[in-house]
This record gives sequence, structure tokens and C-alpha cells, in this order.
Amino acid sequence: MWVIKIAKSSQKKIQFLFRLFENYLYDLKRFRKHADPERRLPSNQSQLAYIVMLYHSIEKGLSLPHSRPGFGKDKLEKLLFELLSYAKNHGNHPFIYSAICSIAQYKGAMEQNDPQGEKIQTALDAIQKHLKKDAIGLPGGTIPFHGFDMDSDKHFSFASFAKRRHSVRQFADKEISIGLIEKAVRMAQTAPSVCNRQSNRVHVCKRQDRIKEILSCQQGNRGFGHQVPLVFIVTSSLSHFLSIGERNQCWIDGGLFLMTLIYGLQDQGIATCCLNWSVEKERDLELRQIAGIPDSENIVCLLAAGYPPEHCQVACSARRPLTEVLQYIE
Ligand SMILES: Cc1cc2nc3c(=O)[nH]c(=O)nc-3n(C[C@H](O)[C@H](O)[C@H](O)COP(=O)(O)O)c2cc1C
Repeated sequence: MWVIKIAKSSQKKIQFLFRLFENYLYDLKRFRKHADPERRLPSNQSQLAYIVMLYHSIEKGLSLPHSRPGFGKDKLEKLLFELLSYAKNHGNHPFIYSAICSIAQYKGAMEQNDPQGEKIQTALDAIQKHLKKDAIGLPGGTIPFHGFDMDSDKHFSFASFAKRRHSVRQFADKEISIGLIEKAVRMAQTAPSVCNRQSNRVHVCKRQDRIKEILSCQQGNRGFGHQVPLVFIVTSSLSHFLSIGERNQCWIDGGLFLMTLIYGLQDQGIATCCLNWSVEKERDLELRQIAGIPDSENIVCLLAAGYPPEHCQVACSARRPLTEVLQYIE
């Protein structure tokens, strides 16, 4: 009898492993098919995504505490190349204008007689030849940010609260209290989660030497990481998920929690900037060790937080036209 029991349980385990493998293979194939690092697919989406990524690094650079005129020359060169290729092959897209605005602001910040300025203008003229004059564009570059003006939020409207949020990459030298952190995390806990299982955890660090170590594993904080007063690491514990269908659920719960944490902090006048955790395994293991994150938790994202300075610039980060985002199902 016990032999049958063992055989049945082993069979179940093998079936589970096989289905798990099949499902990860399905994810793998779809990722391999549609994510396009070399931008070879006929759709222009990945080229556009690459352009947004490049021009965003320009507007982001312009929003840093000590933005250095003429920074990021290699990225600018790649951007100009891609813009020309996109304009030639596909013509207009609102993001092309955001990119051009960002480059114009970049050029404006350079010394007047810098020879690079002339080269940039020639490249922009060549791109603009392929664009329609009256096409709709989106803004680019940076815009001023003056904090959250909590008093005028007495008549709270979510629309204006959400509109005021920007990723901020400059922070005032002012400590954030433990009480405030706890209040923000309590607000984050109001986020919905699958079956209310609440898989999310937050690891927070105030110690400057440790923040330096943590941020040394992350690639998106150059130029402002040294000023960050507080870092959150949002994780999601895999032990809360029970079936193969839930293999990616941690990212959903994690994203909802992270967004609510961002708003919870904003509600108390704290500015934030998400710091991606788009890493491969070696980096992941490194951060786990530095921050003492258990193997059972997936790292969803890092979040830099601090009081904003009275005035600073933030990246414009224009949004896609609604028609590209909203699709009605017939
Ligand atoms: C998951 C995620 C990862 C991000 N990673 C970084 C990062 O590493 N460095 C950075 O400066 N900004 C990062 N950002 C901020 C984005 O650049 C920013 O959210 C986007 O440009 C939209 O601008 P906004 O937040 O001001 O509306 C990240 C945002 C998200 C949601």
C-alpha cells in the first residue's frame, strides 16, 4: 500500500515539475519572440522604445543636481542616428518631437561656441526634413518642480495629486522620520493583493554607507545616487503563491504596492524616484547579500526617496497619445 502512495506522490511531483517547465518555456518563447534587443522585427515599436530610452537619458541628465553641459555624447550620437532612421522610414511620431525638444534643451545648455552644437543642429535639420510641419508633437526636456504644495491639496482631487507626481532626482538634506516611513508603508498596505495574501515586504535603508553599497549594484542612479537620503527595496515573497498560474503574480502585487507606497510618501511631501531592478542573477545575488534579502523574496524595485528641494527641474517624460494606449474590445 505504502509503495502505491509513494509512487502516486512522486508522479504528482513529476507532473507538477513538467507543467512548471512547460509554462516557463511558454513565457520564454514569447519573451524571445517579442522583446527585440537588436530591433530586427518589422514593427517600429522597439525602435521607438529605444529612442524613448535614449532621449529620456538626455532629459534625465538635464534634471540632475549638477548637470554637466555636453554629458552623454555617445548616447546623443546613437539617438541622432536612430531619429534619422526612424524619420526616414516611418516619418512622424509624437515621441520624435519629445526627443528633438530634449536635444534642443541639451544644446541650449552648451557653450555658445561649442563645435558640438553646430553638429547637433545639422543632424536635427536632417531629421526635420523628413517630418511633417503640422504634425502633433509631445514636449520634452525638463520642467520646473516646486514640491507638492500640500496646503492647496485641502480639497483633494486624485487627478491633481497624480499629476503632481514626478520622478525627482534631487533631494534636500533633511531627515525623514521613522514615523513618516511607517505611515507611508501602512498606506502602501492598502493596495489590493491577490486573495489578500499580501506578499509584499519593504526593506528600508537610511544609513548612508549602506545606501552607497546598495546603489552601487543599481545602474540607474548615476549623478544623483550620492544625494539619496532613503532607499526602499520592495520585494514580494514567493512563498505566498500556490499554483503554476501564479508564477508571475509577485510582479503584479509588487507593482501595485510600490505605486501605493509612492503615493503614500507623496502624501507626506516626500518625492521619489523608482530605481529599476532589471538585473541578471549575479547582481540579484549581490544585492540580496548586501541588504539581507531572503532567497524566498523577489526584488520588485528599488525606490529612492527624500524631501525635494524648494525648486528643481524634473524630466518632462511625456505620455503616449491616448489612442495608442486605450483599445476598446468589440
Ligand atoms: C520600474 C521603474 C524603474 C525605473 N528605474 C529608474 C532608474 O533606474 N533610474 C531613474 O532615474 N529613473 C527610473 N525610473 C523612473 C522613470 O524614468 C520615470 O518613472 C518615467 O520617466 C516617467 O516619469 P515620471 O515618473 O516623472 O512620471 C523608473 C521607473 C519605473 C516605473
